[in-house]
Amino acid sequence: MKPVVTRALFDQVMVPNYAPSATIPVRGKGSRVWDQDENEFVDFAGGIAVSCLGHCHPALVDTLKQQGEKLWHLSNVMTNEPALRLAKKLVDNTFADKVFFCNSGAEANEAAFKLARRYSFEKFGQKKSKIIAFEQGFHGRTFFTVTVGGQAAYSDGFGPKPQDIQHVPYNDLSALEALIDDDVCAVVMEPLQGEGGIVSPALEFVKRVRELCDSHNALLVFDEVQTGVGRTGELYAYMGLGVTPDILTTAKALGGGFPIAAMITTDAIAACFKVGTHGSTYGGNPLACAVAETTFDIVNTPEVLSGVLEREQWFRDGLEAINSKYKVFSEIRGKGLLIGAVLNEDYKGRARDFLVASADQQLMVLVAGANVVRFAPSLIISKEDVLEGLARFERAIASIVS
Ligand SMILES: Cc1ncc(COP(=O)(O)O)c(C=O)c1O
Repeated sequence: MKPVVTRALFDQVMVPNYAPSATIPVRGKGSRVWDQDENEFVDFAGGIAVSCLGHCHPALVDTLKQQGEKLWHLSNVMTNEPALRLAKKLVDNTFADKVFFCNSGAEANEAAFKLARRYSFEKFGQKKSKIIAFEQGFHGRTFFTVTVGGQAAYSDGFGPKPQDIQHVPYNDLSALEALIDDDVCAVVMEPLQGEGGIVSPALEFVKRVRELCDSHNALLVFDEVQTGVGRTGELYAYMGLGVTPDILTTAKALGGGFPIAAMITTDAIAACFKVGTHGSTYGGNPLACAVAETTFDIVNTPEVLSGVLEREQWFRDGLEAINSKYKVFSEIRGKGLLIGAVLNEDYKGRARDFLVASADQQLMVLVAGANVVRFAPSLIISKEDVLEGLARFERAIASIVS
């Protein structure tokens, strides 16, 4: 007999490191989701920037079914068709020459940081191990990645941390210039901070970061776990910044909802991972790679990528109109369909209240810190769904303001 699933069961059987909502979604189609009681939600959250083609896109379902009847798993001692097809597409469409597959953003970053360290170790010696990252940055929850992340609270209390990691404020050029030296092996940054509050870098800042890395023989690592695969209206956000990283990580939207991640880099850097230096049992899983290949093919088209920018405008227009009535936001920021509505002084620290009020109106949104309501919907969400979601968001705001 199957156990009956309720929210109470979560508290009974799950490690309490999450506090999920009372709503239990059971199916989705496009940007609509239904719960156990058939209540219909509009999804502006996309499973935290994952479901880039909405829920159960027919082409993804078809690929999953086809691959599901062929071959599910192969170890990395085998050559793997879906993995190599996807790798070829990643290489053909980015700066990279080589790909390493894994299963989550944290693992992709773990691989990136290890590779950066190994590269510098082999090329310049043991002393060049320093990593510079940015305050409020987020790179995952393994011990290395959470330590590189810019919130010490997430890495405190687990014993001795990985060493030689320092942080400077995002967009603060003089702080970076003061810290960087020839012992730095890598500068790690999100090309638009997601969890940290939807913060864009100044173009001049990113360009100078690249120059500083070059002058100190440090690698530039872009964490595109959240920004990658069309989210900002470019296939990868670096393409819109005029700066090319040495290593890039991609996850979340890569599988359109199927867990997969990748670290991509150049031939010269990749060569420092030799047979046995690094690995992953599930990395390159054929089911994941097949679904990701179809996702990639659909997203990487001019129609979908320009459609992201068109949709950004629908959101901005709608949010500005709501704000002119209710005066709750100080700024609407972000790029493409990674949008942050920043709460003004009157509502400071209350982003969660907006999330809960939205859920009461059957709308899924996200927060990015305590002051920002975040939207990361499907890249192909329809205008009807955007307008309906925004109408629900307006009702949620009205319930808070009144
Ligand atoms: C920029 C960035 N890097 C890394 C991660 C970690 O990814 P995962 O949760 O798949 O390990 C996240 C997740 O939110 C992210 O936004």
